Amino acid sequence: MKIHGTPTRTIRPLPDQSGVEIIDQTVLPHRLQFRVLHSLEDAAEAISVMRVRGAPLIGATAAYGVALALTEDAAESRLDTACARLLATRPTAVNLRWALERMQAWLAPLPAAQRCDAAWTEAAAVCDEDVLLNQAVGRHGMELICRRHQQSSRSVNVMTHCNAGWLATVDWGTALAPVYSAFEAGIPLHVWVSETRPRNQGAALTAWELAQHGVPHTVIADNAAGHLMQHGQVDLVIVGADRAAANGDIANKIGTYLKALAARDNGVPFYAAVPGPTIDWRLADGSGIPIEQRAASEVTHLQGQAEDGQVISVRLTPAQSGAANPAFDVTPARLVSGLITERGICPATHDGLAQAYPEAGAWRSA
Ligand code: MRU
Repeated sequence: MKIHGTPTRTIRPLPDQSGVEIIDQTVLPHRLQFRVLHSLEDAAEAISVMRVRGAPLIGATAAYGVALALTEDAAESRLDTACARLLATRPTAVNLRWALERMQAWLAPLPAAQRCDAAWTEAAAVCDEDVLLNQAVGRHGMELICRRHQQSSRSVNVMTHCNAGWLATVDWGTALAPVYSAFEAGIPLHVWVSETRPRNQGAALTAWELAQHGVPHTVIADNAAGHLMQHGQVDLVIVGADRAAANGDIANKIGTYLKALAARDNGVPFYAAVPGPTIDWRLADGSGIPIEQRAASEVTHLQGQAEDGQVISVRLTPAQSGAANPAFDVTPARLVSGLITERGICPATHDGLAQAYPEAGAWRSA
């Protein structure tokens, strides 16, 4: 995707393997700041405090975190401790575990002298594959937008939640990949961007990247979603996922479930974009998905830009009020019209996923 018209990836290794450059998402949309991660600890911190976030980008950053750790010490014990440290950073997005298991399985059998170079190569492969998967998700998901446009020949209104765009991945995004593909193909469209309290990934990140790319969009308060659906102003909801269970239940940013309920009540199709590494074949359904509980301060305080340009944090709630902050919810498969994968759009059912990924039977019993 483009920043100031230049195609840019969200993460890239420095040529001399001295670090990995990321975009610090904690200061967007007010500042575009690149930051170099030099060590395992830098990578773990970037994931924990959400300088990088979004399931695929968390996985990609973890893969490079392993490469950074092995650059310091390539012993097998270091590989184990690095993977354990990175795995503990965030609990819900399964791409983190997927990337670390992939790195460990590839690197552990190698002689120590080969591990460091192999880690950089494998982390780059994780990133390149992410781009290809998301491009394919975009191609398949775009069909939904095209079909809707053919039916009505007016601009298609897509609603999304949180940020499942370019910034949540290495490139293209998951839920926004169909939007970018349709936009590139000249299909007239408009995106309703729900702000996504408490961290405001919609207002801060989705709105920013759509604006960078020139895609028409409007930011709404989360609570406006049901009203817009009720009044025929939403043709299609597309969200991302942090983890899908083998039966098609999906965990995504808090508030996704409410959108799915409103979509069902109003006959609006509700799709989740789910590339293969986001499917947890070890979970029969979504009840076992760990839901991250984040700091109360994300609810009690709000970050924004003051009139003088300073980025400040202000308190919203009475000092004596407590706050709870579950960061994800699980939308049951019965509310999901379909899963947009790199292999096509499949029903959000056990059989639908099993047919799309016939090899998953072997992974499940592994
Ligand atoms: O807490 P975050 O910002 O890492 O969560 C990301 C999401 O939940 C997104 O909505 C996204 O759909 C999943 S990642 C493509």
